[in-house]
Formats: sequence, structure tokens, C-alpha cells
Amino acid sequence: MATERTLSIIKPDATTRNLTGKINAKFEEAGLRIVAQKRIQLTKEQAGVFYAVHAERPFYGELCEFMASAPVVVQVLEGEGAILKNREVMGATNPADAAPGTIRAEFAQSVGENSVHGSDSPEAAAEEIAYFFSGLELVG
Ligand code: CMP
Repeated sequence: MATERTLSIIKPDATTRNLTGKINAKFEEAGLRIVAQKRIQLTKEQAGVFYAVHAERPFYGELCEFMASAPVVVQVLEGEGAILKNREVMGATNPADAAPGTIRAEFAQSVGENSVHGSDSPEAAAEEIAYFFSGLELVG
């Protein structure tokens, strides 16, 4: 399997509960390397552009409000099959369906406040990484 990069976001419900380190320990234990990282405060508009693919969903407004409600940590994870591996470590979107030991099973509060985001395809990963990071910020 090829080495890949994927975008990870630690969401407001997790940053406000001081869970950044515990979450990143799960990624590192799974063999994923954090090759770029920053803590930022999104505006609702910036969150809206990031989640534009969900613009027609009933939860879109709530999602954008939530993502702008407190700081987030945006980061790039690198490793063998990183896109799928990140999604495995995160667990299912709804924590009620997430496998034991996954980030969402252990830390998420609801389907909306689900602690982490991860890119779902190579195309999305490239687009999402470029939304938050310039090439100069990807130091490996
Ligand atoms: P994420 O992986 O960041 O991608 C889109 C997000 O929309 C998802 O995680 C959830 O946080 C959110 N989401 C999905 N379904 C719902 C829902 N039914 N209600 C509220 N938020 C949702």
C-alpha cells in the first residue's frame, strides 16, 4: 500500500475538553505521523466552505455553527494507507455505531459533536489539505 496523506481535524467538543493529546496518541499508536499541525479558530463562513459538500443537508447550519464555536486543530497525517487507517482509528461517524477502542467510541458526544473529522478519499484529502496548508507548511 502506498504512503498517503490525509486531513484530520480535532473538533471543538474535543479541544474544549482538552483531549488533543489523547486523540493524537491514538493516531500515533496506529502508525500515523503528524506532518503538519495548527490550532485555529474557524469562522462560520470558513467552516461552510470546508463542508460545502453538505450544504443541502438539514444539519449543515448546525455543523458550521459548531465548527466555529471554539478552536479546532487541523493536521495532516501521513502513513501507509493513511486515508483508510485514519477512518478506522476515528470509528463510525455516529459514536453509537463506533467500534470499541476507536476515538469516536471513547470520546465523541453525539453524531454532530463527534470529536474528529477525516478525509474520505484521495481527492478529498488533496482538496482538504490544500484548504488549510500551503506546500511550505508540509515539512514531513
Ligand atoms: P465529519 O466526518 O466531519 O463530516 C460531516 C459531519 O457532519 C460529520 O462528521 C458529523 O459531525 C456531521 N453530521 C453528520 N450527520 C449529522 C447529523 N445527523 N446531525 C448533525 N451533524 C451531523
